[in-house]
Amino acid sequence: MFTGDVGLELGGRVAAALRTALDVEITAEQALIRPSAAGRGADYQCNAAMSLAKRVGRAPREVAELIVTHLDAADLVEPPEVAGPGFVNFTLRREWLQQWATGLLADPRLGVRSAPRPRRYAIDYGSPNVAKEMHVGHLRSSIIGDAIVRMLEFAGHEVIRHNHLGDWGTPFGMLIEHLVDEGWAAGGEHSISDLNSFYQAARKKFDADQDFAERARRRVVALQSGDEATLGLWRELVGESERHFAQVYQLLGVKLTAEDYYGESFYNPFLADTIAELEAKGLTELSDGAVCVFPPGFSNREGDRLPLIARKSDGGYGYASTDLATVRYWTRDRQATDLLYVVGSPQAQHFQMVFKASEQAGWLDQAHRAVHIGFGSVLGSDGQMLRTRAGSTIKLVDLLREAVDRAAAVVAERTELDERQRAEVARAVGIGAVKYADLSNDRVKDYVFAWDRMLAMEGNTSVYLQYANTRVLSIIGRAGRSAPEGTEVVLHAAAERALVVKLLQLPAALAAATEEFAPHKLCTYLYETAAAFSAFYENCPILKAPDDRTQLSRLALAQLTSRVLTLGLALLGIDTPEQL
Ligand code: ARG
Repeated sequence: MFTGDVGLELGGRVAAALRTALDVEITAEQALIRPSAAGRGADYQCNAAMSLAKRVGRAPREVAELIVTHLDAADLVEPPEVAGPGFVNFTLRREWLQQWATGLLADPRLGVRSAPRPRRYAIDYGSPNVAKEMHVGHLRSSIIGDAIVRMLEFAGHEVIRHNHLGDWGTPFGMLIEHLVDEGWAAGGEHSISDLNSFYQAARKKFDADQDFAERARRRVVALQSGDEATLGLWRELVGESERHFAQVYQLLGVKLTAEDYYGESFYNPFLADTIAELEAKGLTELSDGAVCVFPPGFSNREGDRLPLIARKSDGGYGYASTDLATVRYWTRDRQATDLLYVVGSPQAQHFQMVFKASEQAGWLDQAHRAVHIGFGSVLGSDGQMLRTRAGSTIKLVDLLREAVDRAAAVVAERTELDERQRAEVARAVGIGAVKYADLSNDRVKDYVFAWDRMLAMEGNTSVYLQYANTRVLSIIGRAGRSAPEGTEVVLHAAAERALVVKLLQLPAALAAATEEFAPHKLCTYLYETAAAFSAFYENCPILKAPDDRTQLSRLALAQLTSRVLTLGLALLGIDTPEQL
């Protein structure tokens, strides 16, 4: 039985029709089958005739007519119709929809196929800096990266997570000297309550105190030459920061763990070879004493070529050197086929240059793909970068705890839940709200962080979806039975049919969200699904269904809806409590 993407299935049939009629070859994707807008009286439409017309030298409507005449899809759709300038409108056959929905009950993947050719993804996300608080940009990277990881894994790909911790470089001289001044020793019992103030204190001393600055510089040299005592202190500092980050990751419920740390220091042993390889391949030039790569196509306003600094004039390595090493390491040593970097949009050019240079070096070729998954900023209600009222940067742990507290206030009124359940629900709702507010916006855009909006019970929010799901579950609970596998789905009412057509779109919505790294497309789909269920429930009573067969069929639709919502939210990293 058919259990895939109905749009692609139709696309394949349209492609076959075009082959017979016009002797042209297109793929199922190129048939451009899209869900029709509501109220158009059709389920899907084919948009290909317009673009093909030129290619085959015929009028678009003529191409559309030929598709209709030669189409072999009577099992799937009613006789199609040509509309407007050359659209072909398709209405799925009721029998086919019924069979498909019946089959779906037994399909743990809800119609979503696994990737026929799984790839190995290496995804860089999270990536905060040691001895600094994570900021909202790191929050976005963690949330977006995590949703992408979950979607890719569900699609059947291998995914290696790596957290590019900023744990190396010149600031560590001053940070370690500050540690020493504070009386730290390797292996001792210490903690930093506030990473930012620690960093700022070190910075202040560095700027004001010549002697300290000199010590800091010597400390960098000691660190880089592998001095054991210095490395011990450095590990203390990194460890302390990692504990702070782990707290945020745990509260947030993202998949990043201690095993996923591949900080800048990890690439240290590879830097010399990486740069030597670029030199040997003739890709470097000496510029002001620094070894630079000038990937083609990048220049500033004055028209000067832009460099990637591979080795600084003092012999040290920087951010760009390390990122060149990441591409080489993940493609060559770890055989990753796809490299993803979930990092804010301001670094777009850096990554384009790193990728270009890596192509020149031969680390990226036809078999590989490298993608910078950029994202916009989070703004406060004043339209400025999100800050506390006092004007300082917001501590993420505080922000997340506030989310849970606010959600707790929302669920506090629910007396039938016990203490522990309430805490769990508050966490699912609060963290879900923060994640969903982020994921439901097109990631390249900025968005405004607004508690009221993200915790609203109505509208495209996670709590609306979580609530919709508990409502479905409660209806099933009240029915006192559920529809077993094999239950025959019967579709009579328009709202029943519309719900099934929506459920049928899961594979396509998920494919778009996964392939375009666009979780908001999954959000939109889930929201529409919840709305389709509401309309269905209003028009098609379940508990008071006219007969047993109809009740079972409607229960089956309710179960499928809940499974789609639960799966969709899980892929976004959001929990679905059974009660709210
Ligand atoms: N630590 C960097 C920052 O906070 C982000 C690192 C992103 N990953 C990378 N491979 N450059 O801006």
